[in-house]
Amino acid sequence: MAAPILGIETSCDETAAAIYCGERGLLAHVLHSQVRLHAEYGGVVPELASRDHVSRINGLIRAALGEAGVSPADLGGVAYTAGPGLIGALMVGASVAAGLASALGVPLIPVHHMEAHLLAPMLEDPPPRFPFLALLVSGGHTMLVDVRGYGVYALLGESLDDAVGEAFDKTAKLLGLPYPGGPELAKLAESGRDGVFRFPRPMTDRPGLEFSFSGLKTAVLTALPPDADAQTRADLARAFEEAVTDTLVIKVERALQAAKLDRLVVAGGVGANRRLRAKLAERARHLGVALHFPRQAFCTDNAAMVAYAGWVRRHGGQAAGGALFTTPRWPL
Ligand code: KG4
Ligand code: ZN
Repeated sequence: MAAPILGIETSCDETAAAIYCGERGLLAHVLHSQVRLHAEYGGVVPELASRDHVSRINGLIRAALGEAGVSPADLGGVAYTAGPGLIGALMVGASVAAGLASALGVPLIPVHHMEAHLLAPMLEDPPPRFPFLALLVSGGHTMLVDVRGYGVYALLGESLDDAVGEAFDKTAKLLGLPYPGGPELAKLAESGRDGVFRFPRPMTDRPGLEFSFSGLKTAVLTALPPDADAQTRADLARAFEEAVTDTLVIKVERALQAAKLDRLVVAGGVGANRRLRAKLAERARHLGVALHFPRQAFCTDNAAMVAYAGWVRRHGGQAAGGALFTTPRWPL
């Protein structure tokens, strides 16, 4: 049996460790969310994030090993998120991973955070078969990717400005909602009424697979009365969520047709959005497209996807990275 891989995630405000082994699957995954730490500042404070990662990561690795019943000496490699992300936060996971890999004499495997998101649905049963279209929607990215196999990715379109999660978070702030804004806005939208406000579906009136979400937040700001009551805010949240999810669905359908694909994978934090999931499920059924989501907990940041991506690198015939590095920006 091939030795299990430890995965470490510290790219933003979640500290996580997980252990994956091809034959036995996911053996353990543990996570600490820093949401409460950053809440009073209304967003992630990078320095606080780094410090909190430092204080948590060793305990989480120990917990993951314990849960998996794996001793450090049994590990076959240490995978970590090398980027993109907050540089100080990334450095914590990278340093711990490098130290551990060096002490154990096993390969150090740098993982691309967005590739890990993209592969997260592989942890579900049944996993998607290649090729597929991936819609990656997170706080930092909005991407449509043509995935032909492990490491064979072609970017079909991305956001020219705000990522979709960022648009959710900024709009939530405008509506007076606490951090983290995306899920809060989605919750508020549930009590919003349909059709009270209507916002554009940006860039859907022209060909192409690019996105632009920054104008939507301005549209909400313009429509927001200074003395807006709770119902008006909910109506605005609803209209915003409808505009964003409609836009994503339109572009997904276009990309499926352009790339002649009949499988769709949705990943990243915004993939947890219920409205988006429902709309995509409806369209996929209509189009005869197979739809794959990671479970809710693996939509947002986690180490299970990092351990899995590390396993793929180590055993999938791709060269394992080797040298220690981190990078705040890294094209897929
Ligand atoms: O993938 P992720 O955990 O971290 C990044 O790599 O960015 O994604 C976080 C993003 C945040 O912008 C958050 O507001 C958004 O995903 N998000 C949601 C929902 N849950 C998380 N946005 C809309 N609806 C949700 N239910
Ligand atoms: Zn992420």
